[in-house]
Amino acid sequence: MSIYRELLKTDTETTPTNLIPAIRGEIEKIAGFIDYQQGTGKRSFLFTATERGEGSTLILAQTAQVLAQLNKNKRILMVDANLRYPALHSHFGISSERGLLDYLRKPNGGLPLHSCQENLDLVVAGVKEGGQLEKSGLGDFRRLLTEAADNYDTILIDSPATRLFSDAVVLAPAVDCIILAIAAGVSSKGIVKTVIKALTDAGGEVTGIVFNRRKDEIPPFIYRRI
Ligand SMILES: Nc1ncnc2c1ncn2[C@@H]1O[C@H](COP(=O)(O)OP(=O)(O)OP(=O)(O)O)[C@@H](O)[C@H]1O
Ligand SMILES: [Mg+2]
Repeated sequence: MSIYRELLKTDTETTPTNLIPAIRGEIEKIAGFIDYQQGTGKRSFLFTATERGEGSTLILAQTAQVLAQLNKNKRILMVDANLRYPALHSHFGISSERGLLDYLRKPNGGLPLHSCQENLDLVVAGVKEGGQLEKSGLGDFRRLLTEAADNYDTILIDSPATRLFSDAVVLAPAVDCIILAIAAGVSSKGIVKTVIKALTDAGGEVTGIVFNRRKDEIPPFIYRRI
């Protein structure tokens, strides 16, 4: 089973901690899809995009919040594996010190966790900017997923844009599902196909595509029928 959702371009250009009402309905469907997948044994979901700024972090943060709200009995973990341009921490007003990078350097130290909501935790990137995930770190990343699976039902991982950086391709074989954010008017069909192929060839499964920042030029009641 796979999912395709479309998010409107909202008026909110800043990184919001609060849920954005205009996209809440679609985010709930992405959360529902992830919850369904979790029921079939899939735990780890990697979020990426083709180019920079297409919305991977925003979609992950909003989905995680909805998932945690709708499933109070489940525990959700977010991991910021975008060491190039970490941003998840700022969505939740947390500093990016001590995080994934520290874990990968010294896995025996345990998971450096921050609590965002009652049942929603975050492992920040642990670097300001300019880091990268090496293929040699994949074993430790798998270890992180195994360790996290003891305490969390679902793990949502953010990563950099795949056309520009290799990080998501490195992580692809370690996760159960990949969700790709594509913003309206940014990438050509050819580039999107190349990115999906790179992730798939690496052993990943692209199970979700979110078409982001769609402009509502056609009235919604007509758009839904075409
Ligand atoms: N549907 C939307 N409507 C309005 N603004 C949006 C939408 N989606 C994303 N944005 C805004 O666009 C900016 C870039 O989004 P975001 O940081 O999620 O992209 P990204 O893919 O994670 O970028 P990066 O490559 O830096 O990791 C943010 O300020 C975000 O709030
Ligand atoms: Mg991001």
